[in-house]
Amino acid sequence: MRDVGIPERVHAGALLTGRARSLQQRNGAAKTVARGHQQVRRNEIQCGHAAPAGPLVASGRDSEIFEYGPGLVLRRSRKRRSMEREAKVMGYVAQHGYPVPRVEEISADGSELVMERIDGPTMFEVLSRHPWTLWRHASVLAALHDRLHEIPGPQWLDPFLAGGNCLVHSDLHPLNVILSPKGPVVIDWANAARGVGPADVALIWLVMIAAELPEGGAQAIVARVFRRLFVRSFLGHFDLAPVRAALPVVGMWKCQDPNMRAAEVASMQRLVARESGRP
Ligand SMILES: Nc1ncnc2c1ncn2[C@@H]1O[C@H](COP(=O)(O)OP(=O)(O)O)[C@@H](O)[C@H]1O
Ligand SMILES: [Mg+2]
Repeated sequence: MRDVGIPERVHAGALLTGRARSLQQRNGAAKTVARGHQQVRRNEIQCGHAAPAGPLVASGRDSEIFEYGPGLVLRRSRKRRSMEREAKVMGYVAQHGYPVPRVEEISADGSELVMERIDGPTMFEVLSRHPWTLWRHASVLAALHDRLHEIPGPQWLDPFLAGGNCLVHSDLHPLNVILSPKGPVVIDWANAARGVGPADVALIWLVMIAAELPEGGAQAIVARVFRRLFVRSFLGHFDLAPVRAALPVVGMWKCQDPNMRAAEVASMQRLVARESGRP
């Protein structure tokens, strides 16, 4: 493959301390990475529109995740948005002992982030396969929220709505928790901000209740009942008054998210209307 305008990839640790330098500078030449039986020159995947780093691991609304050599994955933003701040947040929460993948490298334009590969299913996958673990996992998710909200929100992070002094993830639900053999690990820090814990919990309440489920049939009914039980169990770990108080503003904000479908917006509006009047 022809080398074209290769953006340099820098080590996130260096980026965070302002000591960024390119892999080529560090290694003298294009680094060769063994990937299965295939040898891939790492600088080929640094091109803005080059071949994927390796097989696709997962594809979400915001990004695609590819294998990237032993023990690593590459997250590429679909819209080529910069993930520099996301990498910085991940480094920051890791310093506070919070379970997060280690950031390895980030491309110079920030649209590709290489991080530790966490082995294990997501909490969502485990819940789908072993629904009887609902109460345990609702408690794990609530504890992840509580631990996160104990971390001070740094000034370099945007405020979430009216702001606040703690770190909020804004997407801390079962799809963004990988259950590794060493414990739960939180991924997908794109929307991390400085806010208040109850707003983060209110947001997850809205997102979990609004998520679309398969239409019709017994399976859909079971899924709906299961989801309600999970959400109720999760909320049972918090003081609900401040969470309810945050619902209208958070709901109004989330309804404007262009990624939300019409049916999801309608569900969120129903939830806000139902819960807002309660103490
Ligand atoms: N560090 C990682 N290690 C292993 N798998 C990961 C890692 N990060 C993401 N994934 C996989 O990619 C999926 C989507 O990742 P995520 O960061 O949540 O992207 P999106 O923003 O598209 O939701 C996850 O559900 C998980 O299966
Ligand atoms: Mg995600």
